[in-house]
Amino acid sequence: MKMNHQKLRMHQRNNTTNTALIVLGIESSCDETSASIVKDHKILSNIIFSQEIHSQYGGVVPELASREHQKNIAYVVKKSLEKSNTQLKDLDGIAVTYGAGLKGALLVGLNFAKGMSIALGIPFIGINHLEGHLYSSIMDNNKLQFPFISLIVSGGHTQIWKVNKIGKYELLANTVDDAAGEAFDKGARLLGLGYPGGPEIQKISRGGDPSHINFPRPVVKKSKYDFSFSGLKTALLYRIKDMDNNTIKQNIHHIAASYQEAIIDTLLDRVERISHNEKISQVSIAGGVAANKRFREKSKILSSNNDISIHFPDLNLCTDNAGMIAMAGYEKINNGLYSELSLEANPNLSL
Ligand code: KG4
Ligand code: ZN
Repeated sequence: MKMNHQKLRMHQRNNTTNTALIVLGIESSCDETSASIVKDHKILSNIIFSQEIHSQYGGVVPELASREHQKNIAYVVKKSLEKSNTQLKDLDGIAVTYGAGLKGALLVGLNFAKGMSIALGIPFIGINHLEGHLYSSIMDNNKLQFPFISLIVSGGHTQIWKVNKIGKYELLANTVDDAAGEAFDKGARLLGLGYPGGPEIQKISRGGDPSHINFPRPVVKKSKYDFSFSGLKTALLYRIKDMDNNTIKQNIHHIAASYQEAIIDTLLDRVERISHNEKISQVSIAGGVAANKRFREKSKILSSNNDISIHFPDLNLCTDNAGMIAMAGYEKINNGLYSELSLEANPNLSL
């Protein structure tokens, strides 16, 4: 992404009149079409349209995701303006996800933002989706001090970053195969549950015994901190392979709770070890899996037994949303940064 430090026209206008910036955020990297308005570091609206069409296929179908974004993007933008009592003419800039994600899905949001930017004569800035997730956990939290550790745990990523400051990140751990969210989604599919699998497994685990089955807590050979979740899914497959449907049905609470526990324990094991070894006690956890109730409970226990302070975003900011993109964009636009119209969608963008 080309950045330009030139002062923005609207930014200058606001500086002279001393009014707060108003930024529209747009997110379309996977299966949520979302738009948000942020003013003066506050989210005024955060409209999220979750594409339910994918549930019948047990996972996101890229072509359908692009079409659904195309159908809904104008509507969510209009709604986000209405809900925040904002007029198009009030906007000072647009922040939009340009990676990582599905290429066709990203293109819908990115091109919509470029079109608005030209039509309104205001700048736009491309935002890294992962940086958006990172922002979701720090935006309301004055206690987090640099450096801190950030676990980003979603359907596409399971990574631990050392955040020295905004824009300066060091990758400490990554998954070598499936992401944790993917493990939830694939596990749910094996158990005949719906998509997305995380909330389904959470729901059916209620009242289940998490120690009923001792699933492995996978480690990666020759790596200190990396994750591997594909073996866990295979362990579940083998475990239920010899069970008849009735037995699975009767024990589904226990099986799901045990599977969920193995994912959570694996995540928290790395958080604890990295925090200890790096001597960093501040931790943020963000991304779709951060919405998991049991994960939040077990993190609290880990915090209270150790010198670790773990911060989660509000629930509505965990799964994909434009609020986190608008917040990340707000900071950049406030500092006079923006993107060129030639900015391309980048499916494999890293932090
Ligand atoms: O951050 P996100 O909305 O999209 C990506 O960037 O991937 O994360 C979606 C992932 C899905 O795999 C979904 O199953 C998982 O987050 N997820 C959960 C929960 N809510 C969403 N996993 C566990 N428990 C939840 N409550
Ligand atoms: Zn995400």
